[in-house]
Amino acid sequence: MSAPALDIRPGSGVSLAAFVGDDDTAAKLKNIANFHWPGAVIDRGSCHDAGSYLKSSPSPDLLVVDLDQSENPFEDLQPLAELCDPSTQVIAMGVVNDLALYKQFINAGVADYLVKPLSEEDLETALLAATFSDSSSGEQSGNAEPTGKLVVTVGSRGGVGASTVALNGAWLLAEEMGHRVALVDLDLQFGTAALSLDLVPSSGMIETLRQPDRMDSLFMSSAVLPKTEHLSVLAAEEDLARQLDLHGDGVGRLVEELRGSFDWVWIDLPRSLCHLHTSVLRDATNVHVVSDLTLAGMRDTMRIVNLFSNIGGDGEIGVIINHARRNKGMPRGEFTRGVGCKVLATLPDEPKALQAATVGKPLAQTSARGKFVTELRKVAIDIAPTVKEPRRGLFSSRKAK
Ligand SMILES: Nc1ncnc2c1ncn2[C@@H]1O[C@H](COP(=O)(O)OP(=O)(O)OP(=O)(O)O)[C@@H](O)[C@H]1O
Ligand SMILES: [Mg+2]
Repeated sequence: MSAPALDIRPGSGVSLAAFVGDDDTAAKLKNIANFHWPGAVIDRGSCHDAGSYLKSSPSPDLLVVDLDQSENPFEDLQPLAELCDPSTQVIAMGVVNDLALYKQFINAGVADYLVKPLSEEDLETALLAATFSDSSSGEQSGNAEPTGKLVVTVGSRGGVGASTVALNGAWLLAEEMGHRVALVDLDLQFGTAALSLDLVPSSGMIETLRQPDRMDSLFMSSAVLPKTEHLSVLAAEEDLARQLDLHGDGVGRLVEELRGSFDWVWIDLPRSLCHLHTSVLRDATNVHVVSDLTLAGMRDTMRIVNLFSNIGGDGEIGVIINHARRNKGMPRGEFTRGVGCKVLATLPDEPKALQAATVGKPLAQTSARGKFVTELRKVAIDIAPTVKEPRRGLFSSRKAK
């Protein structure tokens, strides 16, 4: 089992009840529950049994219901909507492999629909993903919400995936966890944030960054590109023939402005500009150095960590290893011992999924349950353990009416 055990503090209320139709799935669930949800209720049973359980017990945070015996799975699940708490995340499973049915479940507020047979790994990934988007655990009250925090992602080398990490991390924070996020791509000539999200790049950024006094609300409203209700982007595609002549003050001022309007400002910082933006690095709550498993990657991760410490950065700095399987050049253990900072995540090589995600939608949207996003989600949860406007539970919208 790859994922670390969940942190189940007394009173956090994380609980799991599962009613499944076959011994194999029940055994796998028990293994997973022993690790993450000790004390979970895992029974052989059906939707009907889940209903009986809910009539006599408090609604769990996570409910797994097997519909393998149902002729009308969607209809059969409906009665549970009246019985379980709106905050309960429901994972349905069954043997019908049908996209229309899957969409019906998701639209109704079911966290996931899984088609059997399932590997233990698939089950674990789905349960953790539902838990992480769950609004019900005690930590996620939304009251002590930080505002205007700053995350900086920087690659140790070119092409290691720093922009991919920044884009998907910002997306998870905004779309899954409900924070207002501004993603700022500081690679003003070659950046990919606007392109990846199918946005028209902001204009006039260079002029304004050169003259920070011009950074008024008019500029901000024209430069900030809204992608979704929660996620906005600042990104340019400046003429390659131009000399940029930037100095750090403009970006410092930009970040200050954004921190006043957004809960999180997520900066994708080109590594060649670290020297210009030391104030951004110093003020960051979290700095993520993305690296591959190469000697050069290790050396330059160490150099960025040293720079951060030398400029008096007091946020948290850690390394995210990307393309983990592609780079067999250096053993992970050796890399980890050498970099001198915490390894926050190890992201796998997922070329197919990333290729499919290039049409204006990030991987976090198109492959939310894939390993890459699952691992990155843990980093996002680590920096922002609260959920502002969480996904709701099964049929909660109906119950709210
Ligand atoms: N885990 C991964 N698996 C497969 N492909 C990946 C992975 N991570 C990133 N990529 C791909 O690698 C390429 C480079 O990624 P990205 O632009 O994020 O890197 P970067 O570090 O920001 O590069 P640059 O130095 O140019 O800013 C992209 O095509 C991206 O889709
Ligand atoms: Mg980049």
